[in-house]
Amino acid sequence: MQVGGVIRVPGDKSLSHRALIFAALAEGASRIRDILPSADVHSTASVLGALGVPIPPLSADVTIVGRGARGLTAPVVDLDCGNSGTTTRLVAGVAAALPFASRFVGDASLSRRPMRRIAQPLREMGATVDVAPADGLPMTVRGGHLRSIEWRSETASAQVKSAILLAGAASGVAVTVHEPARSRNHTERILAALGATVEVRGTSVRLAPAGRLAPLHMRVPADPSSAAFLSALAVLAAEGEIALPDVCLNPTRTGFYTALSRMGANVTLDPGEAQGGEPVGTIVARPSELAAIELGRDDVPAMIDELPLVACLASRARGVTTIRGAEELRVKESDRIATVVANLRALGVNADELPDGMCIEGSDRPLRGRVVTHGDHRIAMAFGILRALPNSAIDIDDTACVAVSYPQFWDDIARAIVS
Ligand code: S3P
Repeated sequence: MQVGGVIRVPGDKSLSHRALIFAALAEGASRIRDILPSADVHSTASVLGALGVPIPPLSADVTIVGRGARGLTAPVVDLDCGNSGTTTRLVAGVAAALPFASRFVGDASLSRRPMRRIAQPLREMGATVDVAPADGLPMTVRGGHLRSIEWRSETASAQVKSAILLAGAASGVAVTVHEPARSRNHTERILAALGATVEVRGTSVRLAPAGRLAPLHMRVPADPSSAAFLSALAVLAAEGEIALPDVCLNPTRTGFYTALSRMGANVTLDPGEAQGGEPVGTIVARPSELAAIELGRDDVPAMIDELPLVACLASRARGVTTIRGAEELRVKESDRIATVVANLRALGVNADELPDGMCIEGSDRPLRGRVVTHGDHRIAMAFGILRALPNSAIDIDDTACVAVSYPQFWDDIARAIVS
């Protein structure tokens, strides 16, 4: 297989959600360019619409007029978050500061995902949060006057951290969040850019009582989690190279590329000018011989969404790869430990589940069989890379679910394969 081309993958999903939410909370007209128009980001747009902030269609240049947190109005419909954990948890943080009830619902996958992790700190701040008995959706948040909080999060979760920071920002109280390891830091970067006082010390972040938030002007860089799939395709190819310009290279997001290099991959990150308050640059990936690696708890947060892809690459590497300290994978869009291992096995790969990760034995045997995605976009895309290999005969049960984060994924893969 020969690959080639320069591909600008779509805008970063985490930044796109945050750009919309902060535009809604700001006072004045925000301008967002190159937002990701994916299903998850549409969920955030429609939820903000239900809270009284009209969001225009998600084009390459969007203007949103916010009236501050007090400009948000009581929803007359349920807030349908679709498949999106980020929409639910971040907007729940905002809802905790609003003097009315907001009821969050979502699809079957989202309804099973844990919400107590945000309910607990938001309750401690003074909101009333009712979570479904099994810990998930529907969830109703009744907000009001909040108090300051210092919260120790059990997991390194940017969604938990951001829910608390947004509750603080929307209500004007100070919040401090301590994490066991550093999760992605986009929320704190945007808050600082909009004029809030944010102090970061190690794995702790403190937001001082925030006043009005200035409007946001952001050009959303390309998503490193989406670029990871094309990088993997290039690494597994026999000839050529793929260049991926304009990618967000925030160090809290680039763990996958560090892991790829440790596996022996020929991948380079070339920093350019910062954009949207984030470091941005070009990734170039080329065919490589891969060797197994061991990944542990410290490696996980900066590559949490890429671990299914790492497992798929490990199935083509020399040796046995072990991933540990990644129990968070069990509460993603699917149980990604169970899903990845079952699918690798279905393709003839030796792989085993661990309580907090998995091990995968690499080989060069052709991969044949059927992949069951459970509607999980990252499972479809990770196995889509293995399906693209010349000797593979892989059937994927649901290819449409890529619309959650990377709608033109299959087109971009087809474009990158020269022969
Ligand atoms: C996200 C945080 C991560 C990640 C998700 C997006 C975000 O979740 O898996 O895809 O935008 O804050 P956790 O914070 O729950 O780890």
